[in-house]
Amino acid sequence: MRKLVYLAIAAMVFTACGSEKNSKEVQPGIKKALWGQKDNKQVDLYTLTNKNGIEVKISNYGGTVTAWIVPDKNGNKANILLGFDSLSGYMAPPPYFGALIGRYGNRIANGKFVLDKKQYQLATNNGKNHLHGGLKGFDKVVWDAVVVSDSVPSLILTYISKDGEEGYPGNLKVTVQYTLTENDELKIEYNAETDKATPVNLTQHNYYNLTGDPSNSILNHSLWIDADQYTPVDSGLIPTGEIKSVKSSPFDFTTATKIGARIDSVKGGYDHNWVLNRKDSSLQLVAAVTDSVSGRKLEVFTTEPGLQFYSGNFLDGSLKTSSGKPINQHTGLCLETQHFPNSPNQPNFPSTILLPGQKYHSVTKYKFSLNKN
Ligand code: GLA
Repeated sequence: MRKLVYLAIAAMVFTACGSEKNSKEVQPGIKKALWGQKDNKQVDLYTLTNKNGIEVKISNYGGTVTAWIVPDKNGNKANILLGFDSLSGYMAPPPYFGALIGRYGNRIANGKFVLDKKQYQLATNNGKNHLHGGLKGFDKVVWDAVVVSDSVPSLILTYISKDGEEGYPGNLKVTVQYTLTENDELKIEYNAETDKATPVNLTQHNYYNLTGDPSNSILNHSLWIDADQYTPVDSGLIPTGEIKSVKSSPFDFTTATKIGARIDSVKGGYDHNWVLNRKDSSLQLVAAVTDSVSGRKLEVFTTEPGLQFYSGNFLDGSLKTSSGKPINQHTGLCLETQHFPNSPNQPNFPSTILLPGQKYHSVTKYKFSLNKN
């Protein structure tokens, strides 16, 4: 009898913790729950679980990663991302929390560029500039989703961005595959093809807080970036075109340094593109962030030439977590792998133009681990 009561209590607790109703296992390690409706399309929330019990929740709305649940050094699990439990949280909308970003990650000055002697005007949504794909970027559309679970759980998202969308030329077919590996990596693989020349620069906008509690700041996290140079910006956060050494500046993270140590001498906080040290475009370890209190560590591997480190400067407490706590400045940090901002207007930056017949391919992995000592 006592055993039955325990079982009943355990079942109730379990049900209460499972935030999504109608959650069904659709493949080994993948659950799917109806999350809502947007643009007359069904929005679902997928939970990917690996053999170590690590969980990642991803919606086909914006390809948004809403949660990444991992233990700390004492085995206590928490979500290391800023995000919301319900789709309504994303309708406000928050500043790209967990979302896929495209067609062009970061800014294009004045929303203008010239390609094949023709000038294009993109939607401007950040003062006079174009940011993260415009008014309705890839973060605000409903993607088609397919789950795959050969040996590890994976979600394949597809979106067709129409010729002229947000001002961009060409129909662009984009596929993004999220995989949760057995090594506790969130792997993101991007593929795209176009029928007209167009700029493409895809990225992902998770905000990490390794303490697992969004009321803590990330200023005590330690950051290492394998970059001897960065791209300085003007007052509108557009790169000036200069590629500058990080030496003797607050941008030098070539040895792991606390984010808060020098942030006061960076006007507005960190929101810059680092020029990664690399010889080729192979998948390479480029950055790591650690929180000594929880023991949590996150490493970034990418094929991209740049990394936008953004220290959550514009978070101002006006957004609230699902439990009602304000999301304050510097309570999340982003490590966005990318080509450099405003490349279509900077001939000295690596090109971001995709031509018909070419295949855009880019891979980034975020690897979670624990420092137990
Ligand atoms: C990027 C940009 C920032 C900001 C955030 C979203 O990281 O570089 O300036 O726009 O996205 O708030």
